Amino acid sequence: MADASNKPHKPEPCCFVIFGVTGDLTHRLVIPALYNLAESGLLPEQFCIVGIVRKQMSEDDLRQSLMDGLNKHATRPVKTEVAQKVLGCLTCLEADPSDPASFDTLSKAFEKLETAKGTCGNRLFYLAVPPTAFAPITEQLGRVGLLREANGAWRRLVVEKPFGTDLASAKALNGKLLKIADEHQIYRIDHYLGKETVQNILVLRFANGMFEPIWNRNHIDHIQITVDEKLAVGHRGSFYDATGALRDMVPNHLFQLLSLVTMEPPTRFDARAVRSEKAEVLAAIQTQRPEEALRNSVRGQYHAGKIGDQAVGDYRKTPDVKPDSTTETYAALKLTIDNWRWAGVPFYLRTGKALGLKRTEVAIKFKQAPFAMFRATPVDQLSQNYLVIGIEPAEGITLQFNTKVPGPTISIDGVEMKFRYKDYFKAAPSTGYETLIYDCMIGDNILFQRADGVEAGWQAVQPFLDAWKKAGADGLVGYEAGSEGPAEADALLARDGHNWRKLT
Ligand code: BG6
Repeated sequence: MADASNKPHKPEPCCFVIFGVTGDLTHRLVIPALYNLAESGLLPEQFCIVGIVRKQMSEDDLRQSLMDGLNKHATRPVKTEVAQKVLGCLTCLEADPSDPASFDTLSKAFEKLETAKGTCGNRLFYLAVPPTAFAPITEQLGRVGLLREANGAWRRLVVEKPFGTDLASAKALNGKLLKIADEHQIYRIDHYLGKETVQNILVLRFANGMFEPIWNRNHIDHIQITVDEKLAVGHRGSFYDATGALRDMVPNHLFQLLSLVTMEPPTRFDARAVRSEKAEVLAAIQTQRPEEALRNSVRGQYHAGKIGDQAVGDYRKTPDVKPDSTTETYAALKLTIDNWRWAGVPFYLRTGKALGLKRTEVAIKFKQAPFAMFRATPVDQLSQNYLVIGIEPAEGITLQFNTKVPGPTISIDGVEMKFRYKDYFKAAPSTGYETLIYDCMIGDNILFQRADGVEAGWQAVQPFLDAWKKAGADGLVGYEAGSEGPAEADALLARDGHNWRKLT
């Protein structure tokens, strides 16, 4: 995340090594992001991409496949000379974690390659592979010394999500990686932190004088975090059925939003201070007893319906999903944070697949004003004071407040003050990965998850995972594809006298 006062500079020479180079993520996001960085002049002068393949593949075939992917997924018109420059520096090497000897060969190949390319020994290993391969690859890299930092050269490891499937597995994975690499070398990606509007939460809170004094339990009634998706599970049945909405979205994406909105002001804008504050606030989420976890959550599964004019079948009929699956495709939770700033303020989180709208937002509901002087008006119908941080699709900030309707009598109506990014700033269309990849190359891990932050996130959701597992099919509710989600999620808020902000 380049400092506002500094123009982004070219990173030091480096070798960008991709495990999983033939996969979807590399084609869809990593290469298009590298292309965009090249177009903006933000790739190192001495740079090379090393694609690691399991079995022999010609460099030309790999290059062609990545070029096809770029043409398909590029966010900007592809300029041939830029694309050729990026993919022209591609080298294809073989390694397979199930064949340790292949890593010895890999290590030797690096020495030669780095001398030829002048990348000064700086290496970034990007693991765009299934999570079960994170530890075996890292262990092999460690064994042959490819991750050892020496003679001023840096060695970094980028790990995609999901990072673990529960608290125990996340701890175990952290343990394995940290045996081989130091925390400063590990970049755990959460693509939500690549979104401009998510990064802006910090700036909104801490670069303005007017929000911080009211950003606490004295003035804030409750906070709603919504990540609703129209997408159904589609071809991801096997991954999703073993994962579910809670694991897929909450300890990572929703908790990134939650922690940025609730953290204490860091003393410095650096990775150590920011990530410490984020981990602290996640660790302060109150642990719920099993009966509380059940009472404070809703899990739903979609059945057939229509999203727009597109018919969507039952989740249980999705390829690779068990016909009697109890995996949730929708989750809503009520959480509380046990610290001086937030004690007593409820946080309502919801996320789901196959819903009627794609919406990502954080809505901060302020306490109601005493309306005694307006008794003559139906005060219960007055608009509520919300500050809404829109992440998708409308990127911006909206403040909702009451105003007098012009006329001889006092009549009140709710209005909105809106800031939209696109009205002020012209940003080149991006994949959302450019900042993250650039930051890895310049060694800034402020936008990456630290081990303690990941574990604090899993710790907070573990009671829900345990309670839901025990309850089995009991308590799993249905909702129609294309709807706003299960009615039970409305009841979760209604119980506290609240309602979800209407999404439009
Ligand atoms: C991914 C999840 O991490 O995030 C997907 O695995 C989900 O299931 C996606 O669709 C949502 O990301 P975004 O940026 O579209 O909100």
